[in-house]
Amino acid sequence: MTASLLLQTLSGTKQAQTPIWIMRQAGRYLAEYRAVRASEPDFISFCLNPEKAVKVTLQPIDRFNLDAAIIFSDILMVPWALDRNVHFKTGVGPLLDPLAAPGDVDDALLENFIDKLAPVGHAIKKCRAQLAGDKALIGFAGAPWTIITYMAEGGTSRDFPTARQWVWSDKKGVEKLLEQLIHATAEFLTLQARNGADVLMLFDSWASAIPASQREWMIIEPARKIIEQLRKNGVTQPVIGFPKGIGEGLIRYAHESGVDAVGLDHGVDPQWVGDNLPKSMPVQGNLDPLSLISGGDDMLRAVDGIMTAFDDRPHIFNLGHGITPPTPVENLAALLEYVRGWR
Ligand code: CP3
Repeated sequence: MTASLLLQTLSGTKQAQTPIWIMRQAGRYLAEYRAVRASEPDFISFCLNPEKAVKVTLQPIDRFNLDAAIIFSDILMVPWALDRNVHFKTGVGPLLDPLAAPGDVDDALLENFIDKLAPVGHAIKKCRAQLAGDKALIGFAGAPWTIITYMAEGGTSRDFPTARQWVWSDKKGVEKLLEQLIHATAEFLTLQARNGADVLMLFDSWASAIPASQREWMIIEPARKIIEQLRKNGVTQPVIGFPKGIGEGLIRYAHESGVDAVGLDHGVDPQWVGDNLPKSMPVQGNLDPLSLISGGDDMLRAVDGIMTAFDDRPHIFNLGHGITPPTPVENLAALLEYVRGWR
């Protein structure tokens, strides 16, 4: 079995070919995804249906021959398993029962929460068995801070007023919640690794909302503790951390969180990365997903900038955030062709 381009790149060796996959590659911009989604109106049941989850996980691989599949699931599966009554409303997004206070968590919930997530493990096992040996399978979870924003606000939010206030006003309560989420996240990632995920990714999608002075305990330390627990559990798979919008905070995140690679959002200047992140550290990213809407030369010139800047280090091509539903599939096809033939 050939080791995948993605795993070789994550182990720190620059490959002749740059591996490529796309955040949210299984999703609504694909007609074949929308067809399966229409058959499963409840999003959580969809994520917990291994047959359907595997089917949509493999759709973008079949269509585009990407270097990695990412298991079809969601970061909100952890709060769902912790009884936050997570559901998804069309046109609105996720809705949860908001926590009244951060310390308002019951550790008894940790006793059987992993059993509720067992179907994600089954899906990974099935998927790994169907995926070619030269393709990597990525498992993932949300990072504690990002999950806290959903648990505090009860859904998607622009400014996260409740969660951000908790960080200042109830440090003890937030520490208690962090501890529960660190444990739950590490166990969920362990389940995914044991069932065959080759790589793990930690999404801190709203890291941008944490002020610099609070990054250490809200962003970096939780990632470090999750990775410590993974390693204690015998999990050896590489971890990609994605602290979206953390800016110059990437320097400390890269050095101190224990991640093997960092995902870069499209706000990060690739030139800055060259001067500021360890030369040997693999990076993933970071084309603006919205450049794919119009595609064409402007998109390809942005790709040139990224490929040139990362030419001297291990690099996984990706977007800076998830691909959006209105993306024309032919523009993604053109992007892939260009990256594969680059230089
Ligand atoms: O292809 C893949 O990337 C794998 C699957 C995946 C999904 N969600 C499926 C999904 C992954 C990796 C995620 C991660 C996720 N989920 C994140 C972190 C990444 C990021 O975008 O920052 C976040 C913040 C969520 C939470 C979430 N899930 C929201 C806010 C929404 C609703 C927003 C929307 O686009 O409607 C979801 C739903 C969701 N998760 C969809 C998909 C394909 C769309 C739901 C649908 O099909 O109706």
